[in-house]
This record gives sequence, C-alpha cells and structure tokens, in this order.
Amino acid sequence: MAHKLAIVGFGGMGTWHYENVSKRVDEVEVKGVYDVRQEPMDTAASLGLKTYGSLDAVLNDPEIDIVTIATPNNFHKDIAIKAMRAGKNVISEKPVTIVSSELEEIMAVAKETGKLFSVHQNRRWDKDYLIIKKILSDKTIGEPYYIESRVQGSRGPLHGWRGYKVNGGGMVLDWGIHLLDQMLDMIDSKVVDIDAHLFSIHTPEVDDNFKTMIKFENGVSYLVEVATNCFINQPRWHVCCKEGTAVVENWDCDGKIVKLANNDELAWEDVIVYTSAGPTRTMAPRPEETTEQLELPEVEADWTNFYRNIAAVLDGKAELIVKPEQCLRVMKVVDAIFESHEKSHSISVNI
Ligand SMILES: NC(=O)c1ccc[n+]([C@@H]2O[C@H](COP(=O)([O-])OP(=O)(O)OC[C@H]3O[C@@H](n4cnc5c(N)ncnc54)[C@H](O)[C@@H]3O)[C@@H](O)[C@H]2O)c1
Repeated sequence: MAHKLAIVGFGGMGTWHYENVSKRVDEVEVKGVYDVRQEPMDTAASLGLKTYGSLDAVLNDPEIDIVTIATPNNFHKDIAIKAMRAGKNVISEKPVTIVSSELEEIMAVAKETGKLFSVHQNRRWDKDYLIIKKILSDKTIGEPYYIESRVQGSRGPLHGWRGYKVNGGGMVLDWGIHLLDQMLDMIDSKVVDIDAHLFSIHTPEVDDNFKTMIKFENGVSYLVEVATNCFINQPRWHVCCKEGTAVVENWDCDGKIVKLANNDELAWEDVIVYTSAGPTRTMAPRPEETTEQLELPEVEADWTNFYRNIAAVLDGKAELIVKPEQCLRVMKVVDAIFESHEKSHSISVNI
C-alpha cells in the first residue's frame, strides 16, 4: 500500500512535490496539504487534496505517514522536530536548516523518536552531475585535481523571502547547497580549507552571488559558484584531470571530453611555438592527433528514486540515500563559507 504524504507549505516547491509524486511515484500518495496562506489551500482543495486547518491537524491525522516540509528555510527545523515527535517521518526541503547546529537538534530528535528524516537533495539525480560523477568514478581521464561547478543567471535581485536573512535567504543556502551536496557526494576526502567570496549586488541583506574555493585533503581543489548577475555564462562543469579535461556546458548536457591519445605524448618536445601572442612553449595548442575527443557518457538520471528510496526504507527494504549525516557535513561547509566571508580570509577546517 502507498505511503500517505502531507505537504506543509504549498507554494512553488510544495506544488512541484505534489505534481511529481502524484504522477510519477506509485509508492507514495499525496493526501493533503497545510499552508498558512488561504490561496494555496484553495488550490489544493481544487486538486481534490485534503486541506488541514493547522500543522497540528496534519500531525493528528493517523493516516499520514510522511510529512514533506516545503516552507521557507527558517521554518524547517521547528516543523521537522514537531512532526517527528508526533510520530511522522519527515522529508525537509533543502537547505535543511540555516546553520549546522539546528540540524544537530533535528538529528537528536530523529534518534530519540526513531523516525526517518531525510532532505530533498534532488540534484543528486541531475543528469549533468551524474555524467561528471561517472567520468570521475570510471577514471575516464584519470584522477581529478581541479573542478569547477557553477550555475549562472542574470535575473538580478532575489525575490520574496529569499532576499531576507531571517528566512535563511541568499544563494549559498539556495542553489549553493545543491552544488555543495553534489561535491561532498562525489569527492571522497575531507574538506580542509574554504575561501569564500560573497556579493550582495542587488539584494542588500543576503548574498545574491558567491564564489568559494574548497580544498580537499586528497589534493583536489573545487570551485563552487552561483551567480544571479552574470551576463555571459561559463560551462556548468569544467573538470581537470591528469589525463584530460571534461566539460558539460549546460543542463541540456552538451559537452565533451578531450583526453591524451597516448600518455607517452605527454613528454613534449621542448620547442618554441609562435602564436599570435608571441612565442611560447607551454601555452601553445597541442596538435590534434595527440588528443582524442570522447562523447560524454550515458547515465540514468531518475529523480523519482528519491521518493522510491524513502518508501523502500520505510518498508525495511533499503538503506537511506540522502542521510542526515551527509547533510550535516554540507551545513558545516556552509557555516565555514559564512565565517570565511565575515573574516575576509580562508578558514582551515576538518569536515
Ligand atoms: N529542491 C529544490 O530543487 C528546491 C527548489 C525550490 C525551492 N526549494 C525549497 O523549498 C522551500 C520552499 O520554497 P518555495 O520556492 O516553494 O517557496 P514559496 O514561497 O513559493 O512557498 C512557500 C510556501 O510556504 C508557506 N508557508 C510559509 N510559512 C509556513 C508555515 N510556517 N507553515 C506552513 N506553510 C508555510 C507559504 O505560504 C508558501 O505558500 C524552500 O526551503 C526552498 O529552498 C527547493
């Protein structure tokens, strides 16, 4: 039988959960909705969903098995704790909380109640990310040493609650959290250093653009960038490995891999090449016959596996994919990003 889900917060993302779970995940049934505003409640009623008059009403409904929280970020913690104490399993939207200590409070209650707690880090199922993850795990171009992961737009000031500190607004906690979660999911090493640069170009209270350089114990450096004021985009991914380079240009996953055709070719003749910028040994392009171009790998990218996994865990058939301990590492990186910004220097960490 399908697990019964209630959605708390029925705005943009709450509606997305309803539409996608209803259409695509047989294991979970969206039963009802609670929102503090009347308009989303009317929408929910028109969709044939049960509308609850309060959060307590949701939590008192014995049929509800899972609560998905899709409110602004600052409400996640209290709703999650209350729901678990009422015996519900909880999925929180990202960012799970605003600081790592709040997640630790949630995790203590999850332990105390034995309830499932997970975070909707849906971008672990994005095709562009899974392509890069596969290139690295297959070692198609050897070991990585430098990775750039960025999303760039030019739509300016952040809207609504995303523009306010009290709500946990800003781009580090918004898109940044996805890119940081992907990073920690992919790089199997400790974070040792964080150097963050946050900008408030059009949104005075919070960061609307940021870049952060992250160093891992295994020698990998990783740039994460989120921009809302960028008018000429760079590739979504640029990945430097010892034997080649991979680029994913965009969410449509255009891109390529260029690798050395033969490792022996790395021993390069010490000749000067005359380019339009003058003579150079190191910066001249490599003759094409010494490299080979590969297509990006095919990957299976199915977001529904997020909810299928939750249902399987509740049925005792699987291990949780998005674990709170993983989200805690992400939140500790976020804490250090804000600390680096406040202190205007890099921060040594052990995360
Ligand atoms: N995973 C993703 O890809 C993704 C994408 C967008 C948003 N989100 C996350 O989803 C959450 C909601 O974002 P959104 O864009 O849908 O915002 P939104 O403003 O469109 O919707 C939020 C809704 O929550 C309601 N609400 C506010 N306080 C409430 C409370 N205490 N109890 C019940 N309802 C309450 C509001 O009335 C509103 O309808 C945020 O945490 C955001 O970061 C995740």
